[in-house]
Formats: sequence, C-alpha cells, structure tokens
Amino acid sequence: MSEAAQTAPWWQDAVIYQIYPRSWADGDGDGIGDLPGITAHLEHLADLGVDAIWLSPFYTSPQHDAGYDVADYRDVDPLFGTLADADALIARAHQLGLRVIVDLVPNHSSVEHPWFQAALASPPGSPERTRYLFRDGQGDRGEVPPNNWQSLFGGPAWTQVVEADGSPGQWYLHLFDRSQPDFDWTNPAVAAELESVLRFWLDRGVDGFRIDVAHGLVKAVGLPDEEPSGTAPPPMWDQEPVHEIYRRWRGVVGEYPGDRILCGEAWVSPLERLARYVRPDELHQTFNFDYLATPWTAPAQRATITRSLEQMGAVGAPATWVLSNHDVVRHATRLGYDQHADSGLAGGIGPGDPQPDVELGLRRARAATAVMLALPGSAYLYQGEELGLPEATELPDEARQDPTFHRTDGALRGRDGCRVPVPWRSDAPGFGFGPGPATWLPQPIRYGDLAPDRQRGVPGSTLELYRDLLRLRRELGLGRTRLAWTDDGSATLLGFTLTAADGTVIGVLANLGDRPVVVPEGVEVLVASQPLTSPGELPRELPGDVTLWYRSAR
Ligand code: NOJ
Repeated sequence: MSEAAQTAPWWQDAVIYQIYPRSWADGDGDGIGDLPGITAHLEHLADLGVDAIWLSPFYTSPQHDAGYDVADYRDVDPLFGTLADADALIARAHQLGLRVIVDLVPNHSSVEHPWFQAALASPPGSPERTRYLFRDGQGDRGEVPPNNWQSLFGGPAWTQVVEADGSPGQWYLHLFDRSQPDFDWTNPAVAAELESVLRFWLDRGVDGFRIDVAHGLVKAVGLPDEEPSGTAPPPMWDQEPVHEIYRRWRGVVGEYPGDRILCGEAWVSPLERLARYVRPDELHQTFNFDYLATPWTAPAQRATITRSLEQMGAVGAPATWVLSNHDVVRHATRLGYDQHADSGLAGGIGPGDPQPDVELGLRRARAATAVMLALPGSAYLYQGEELGLPEATELPDEARQDPTFHRTDGALRGRDGCRVPVPWRSDAPGFGFGPGPATWLPQPIRYGDLAPDRQRGVPGSTLELYRDLLRLRRELGLGRTRLAWTDDGSATLLGFTLTAADGTVIGVLANLGDRPVVVPEGVEVLVASQPLTSPGELPRELPGDVTLWYRSAR
C-alpha cells in the first residue's frame, strides 16, 4: 500500500461488523445477549479481520423496539449490563485493534424517557410538551389525528393522550411504535441534549456513532398531510434543515482526537440525494441501501456500483456497501428466491410463506459478499453472515417480538427472523449462545452446523471464506483502489479491475448466470467463493453464482 493510503483516515476503507447485542452472545444465561458476552467473544472478530464494530442500542429501555426506544441515553440497560461493562467492552475492543461505534437514536425517545413523562404530566402548551410533537386533533372534538401520516410499523403515526383531568387530550407523533415519540428538533433543548449525549459517549472513548433514522429528525413546517405517493417529497423525510444538525455534529466529533465518525442510517434515494448527507462537513458515511436492495443480476449490480462510486465520489466521501442488517431478511435467504430483489426484504418470512432455496441462497450470498468486499470504500457486515446464517423463516407467531408484527396484525412477519441468537458451539445447548440453553428466540436446527467450531480451519467453509476475503482486502488495500469495468456490459457476468495507487491490479469476475464461463488462462486465483471446476485438465471454469478474485500473470 502507498504511504498516502496508509495515512488516510481509517474509516475510508473500514470493514465494520454490526453486533445486535441481544442476539450475539449471552454472558449471564438469561437467554438475551449482553455486553460481558460480547466482550468475551471479541477475539472472534479480531481473528475474522474486521476493523470496527457497531453496536445496536444497549441503553436503558423498556425494549418495545429492542432498545431503539431509549429511556436513558447515558446508561446501560440492566438486561445488557452496566456502564462499567460498556467501558470494559470498549477497552478490550481497543486492545484487540477494533474500533467501537455505538448507536445514537436522536429521532425519538422511549415513552419512559423522563422528558416524555414530564410532557404527559404537563398541560397542552406547556414547555414540557414542546420537546415532542404534541398537536391538537382535528374534528369537532379533536378525535381525528392531526394529519394523515402513517407509522412505519403500521397504523397511524399519532396517539392521543389522556389529559390530567381525564379528558381525551392532544396527540403525539411517532413515526415508529407508539412507544417511540418523535422529538421536536425545532426546540433548541433537544439539539443541546443530543449533543451532550454525543459528548458523553465520546468522552467514554467510542470511535463513532451510527445515527438512527438520520433522514427523519426534521419534519416539514406545519406537519402537512402526506400527498399520495410520488406527487411530492414526503414531509417527514429528508428535509433540508436536517443537514444543519450534521454540520454541528461533525464539528463536535472533530473536537476529539482519533478520527471519530458519524454514519447515517438514511433511507434516502436516489443516491445523489443520499450523497448530500456525506458532503465534506456533514456525516462521514451513510449506509447504501440502494446497494442492499439491488437484484442479483449483472446489469443491476453494475449500475448500482457505478452510481454509488460516482455519487459518493462527487462529494469526496467513500462509497459504502451493505447486504444485511437487523432490519432486513438476511441476504443468504433473500438470494434463495427467484425474485430476490424484494422477497420479504423488510416484511419478514413466516412458516406459511414460500420458503427459500437455502443452498442456492448461501451460494449466491458468498458470491455477493465476495463482490462487496472487493469494492472500493467501506463495508458493513451483519453478525452471523460470516457463518452463512440464513434467516429463521419458520418462527412461530407466538415467538415473534417485533412491534411491526403486532401493529400489522401479522400482515408483516417482522424482523425477528434475522435477529435470532447466533450459534457459537455446535454441540452445546442453545448452540453455545450463553452458558445455558436459553435463547430469546428459538434457533433453527441448521444453525448448529454453522457454528464457528464447525467452520474454523475448515477449507471452503463460509467462515474461512470471509477470513480470506478480509485478509486479502486488507493486504491488497482493495478499499482504496480505483474500479474499472472489464465485462462489456454482459448480461450475466460482472467483471472489474481494481488498481491501487502503486499500480497493482487485481481482477474480479462474478458469474451471475447459470452456465460456467472459462477463466482466462494464466491468471493467479487469489480466492473464489466456491471451488472452480475444470472438466478436463484445463481450462478452469467459473461456475454460476461464483465470484473470483485474481491477479493477471505479468
Ligand atoms: C431503524 C432501526 O434500525 C430499526 O431497528 C428501528 O426499529 C427504527 N430505526 C426505529 O428506531
């Protein structure tokens, strides 16, 4: 790697591994993952070869939305441990060379947050109410919600409160569950509080923040009705003043040493709109959900990758890549359907739904990951994907906990299927998730065969594939290369080269079709997502749904 590349900030090509605390490792045996459990397993990640971890929320919360409903931003929920446990986790991660990114939930709090409790106890028009979005209802008796907005979890985005005198009262806005009231970001007290929360965790040594619902904090003035889809920009998303918040926060993290970062969860499309969040004085990164939602076809992949590099490059930000997270069906399962683009992407999959082809899904997932980890920029992995975990697609309704399932009367199965506790040991109760057999969601039987103890050191296992990809990515500095297409716009083949600043060229070929393609003679195979085949002696062939990294013979 060139000297310039070595001195560039770490986050420009980092691989960041998402830990969903309740489902990664349980230290105390209650069936719910926790911070001590995470700390005890961090070596797995150092060994895997990632640069950083991002932890979904572990703060004090009634857990109505698995911790994305925060009651105290400056403490750890007893379910997950204590502040001392958080400190120990950060220290151990740093010792292992892993940076730590925590989740910040600035769009809404929990109903149990003291501010919301104070708002409920105070009359309409009181200062306590102005930190949230309380409004009078419409209709003769205020019985109709203030506008037509719908919650992302189903049903109206407004809930009516009962005033202190027992009368039906005002309504408060919640873009998500009714237990998640939205803050009013036009109130300077809200901005001051969240900035102080940033500093609290920065002072404890975290390396950055993933910002929940980053495109939703500011709503259109007057909270107008949402127009029928497509006719006007939605009044609750991507409003111009939100950028001012990120400019301020960029200044805040910039006051701290060590290149700390802000990564936005902004479901904003098209990519040129998303790129506005990562202009030089705003966030460092945003998740690239367009990429996550791109079908597994060569033209679609090529187009999204090209546009991502162009649009992020235009504002001087690294492109980012992600295939799975705690809100969508795991990519090893999505890709096991013919219509893989949107099969249950956010809606989840239940026992009565069409089931995926598990083998095909894993094969394609490995190929897709091998494409992703070659790309210039920064990549996000979701816990368990390095084991090839599929979604749990047959969870019984009684086990489901995601509020989307309950708010839609089961029409949406919800996101529990990607949140099932991960296996650590094939022969242990609960597959070694904790010291005992308890797991807060039941694990599919096949998770046992995918536990790391079955895969470590096993050539061809998904875990070893991820380790190889990550090692080579780092050694070759792939995250800082320049990409050029070599596939002539093929309908089934994705081909590109990656050129490093020192002139080194690495090639990538991904066969997204059904038929094998011949591997050019004389190339040195660096890694392939499945074994190459050679029907006779030579030439070697790249089978369908396989990705190859190679070096051309000089
Ligand atoms: C996005 C988070 O990723 C998701 O899990 C959560 O339900 C919503 N934001 C609301 O906080």
